[in-house]
Amino acid sequence: MALYSDKVMDHFLNPRNVGVIEDADGVGEVGNAKCGDIMKMYLKIEDDIIKDVKFETFGCGSAIASSSMATELIKGKPVNEAMKLTNKAVAEALDGLPDYKMHCSVLAEEAIQSALEDYYKKAGLKDDEKAL
Ligand code: FES
Repeated sequence: MALYSDKVMDHFLNPRNVGVIEDADGVGEVGNAKCGDIMKMYLKIEDDIIKDVKFETFGCGSAIASSSMATELIKGKPVNEAMKLTNKAVAEALDGLPDYKMHCSVLAEEAIQSALEDYYKKAGLKDDEKAL
């Protein structure tokens, strides 16, 4: 059996939504200290909907595939749904990741949450006003 699913290979070789959003409403950057990989997410949000999302990932193939899939999963979705996106959902959408590569999908979950936190901060919303 191949180590990586066709979907992982596809999103690694043809990642969706790579790039930068200059006037992003939320930006999040996270890293994994062990492997040194870094992921940055940019969100454009209007009326609580993720209108656009782009990412830059300096990392392994699974991290690139995870960020690509994660952007596809949250694009066009309400903010509160994006906030609930788990690394497991990302890995499942990729038809699975090898166990020792699950942490790569965690980066995608954390990067989106960090970008959403930034959005809340910029929007000046207090905790009890968040659409959680
Ligand atoms: Fe670090 Fe994949 S090896 S994110």
